[in-house]
Amino acid sequence: MQAAVTERWDGLVVGVSLATLQGTEGYGEIADAALGWHDGRLCFVGPRSALPGDARDLADEVIEADGWITPGLVDCHTHLVFAGDRAREFELRLQGASYEEIARSGGGIVSTVRAVREADENTLLAQSLPRARALMRDGVTTVEIKSGYGLDFDSERRMLRVARRIGQQLGVQVSTTYLGAHALPPEYAGRADDYVEAVAAWLPRLHDEGLVDAVDAFCEGIGFSPAQTRRVFEAAGALGLPVKLHADQLSDLGGAMLVAEFGGLSADHVEHTSIEGVRAMAAHGVVAVLLPGAFHVLRETKLPPLDAFREHGVAMAVATDCNPGTSPLQSLRQAMQLACTHFRLTPAEALRGATVHGARALGLTDRGVLRVGMRADFVQWRVRHPAELCYWLGGDLAEAVYVGGVRLA
Ligand code: NIG
Ligand code: FE
Repeated sequence: MQAAVTERWDGLVVGVSLATLQGTEGYGEIADAALGWHDGRLCFVGPRSALPGDARDLADEVIEADGWITPGLVDCHTHLVFAGDRAREFELRLQGASYEEIARSGGGIVSTVRAVREADENTLLAQSLPRARALMRDGVTTVEIKSGYGLDFDSERRMLRVARRIGQQLGVQVSTTYLGAHALPPEYAGRADDYVEAVAAWLPRLHDEGLVDAVDAFCEGIGFSPAQTRRVFEAAGALGLPVKLHADQLSDLGGAMLVAEFGGLSADHVEHTSIEGVRAMAAHGVVAVLLPGAFHVLRETKLPPLDAFREHGVAMAVATDCNPGTSPLQSLRQAMQLACTHFRLTPAEALRGATVHGARALGLTDRGVLRVGMRADFVQWRVRHPAELCYWLGGDLAEAVYVGGVRLA
């Protein structure tokens, strides 16, 4: 609740309510609270009355505020680095074509691959920055960004470099994921196993350049088989890199169980995950990443096994899946809204999903909760109650966004 005062803090907000998210459920509310930070870390989280002295003597900058402060939002699954768009495909789907039909006829992911291969690094950065900025303005302080639209060494590398540059340019925390096994590029048609070997061979080179924080694959009928996914996971394991998976989105190929077997961070989508998959996730602490944006856009009807996740204590994260095909969603708060509407998460569950559980899905334990010693990543919201974060569709609710104690927006 407090820290020893040995030197003046960098900043202190007083008068707000805090949704600390301490504990395992609810908001962890503190009314008429104070939040102090120093050297990028939180050094006071508690009621204003418990401050160890007069606010003005404690910190260099003291802000009287109202509204609510939550931990900074963590968007743990995005594909926001890409070129072009797929609005035409959206029209086709509205006319009755399915996502799988479009993919099998050379559209879908592969059409974004063409656009990414044609874009140089600066073009890719210029097209991707506004999406990262939009997420950030709506409260995201940590964002995961996947490769997977390059599908050759140079283009995958370019995507990951752009992801790192977004972090440097915007000040937002970026976690990168190598998703070479996202789709089969046309030059490998009929040679999926050879492509998977290439994906595995590129990984150490990308890792050497500091471009990879985790490894992902698309395990699906229109993606890669469990055996091919296993090959990618083994390559990650050889480098000590954590794995996650696009698992059981359109069918149940046992993806969740595979991630659990490898002690992975998260199984994402998970609409078709079986009860055995849920049990395996629970046993290995795998986070279920819910992606209600893709569910919504694809007008899916099969719900993830939400009650089973709750019953077995599987943590549920919520993410945007921001991508040009199935989830052109640029607000994590909107994803929280969709998680409540479609998946019946409570607003408190959705907020935990977009903070503490999102952080866990990235293997990050220093954020997602307001507690002394955690990173000073937090958002001040213009709301009267935290449920409002999930209640409004759109809107502009973030008054201030801090990353490592630095105000970004
Ligand atoms: O998470 N499922 C595969 N990957 C993305 C979709 C990417 C795309 O269609 O461009 C997803 O939904
Ligand atoms: Fe995805």
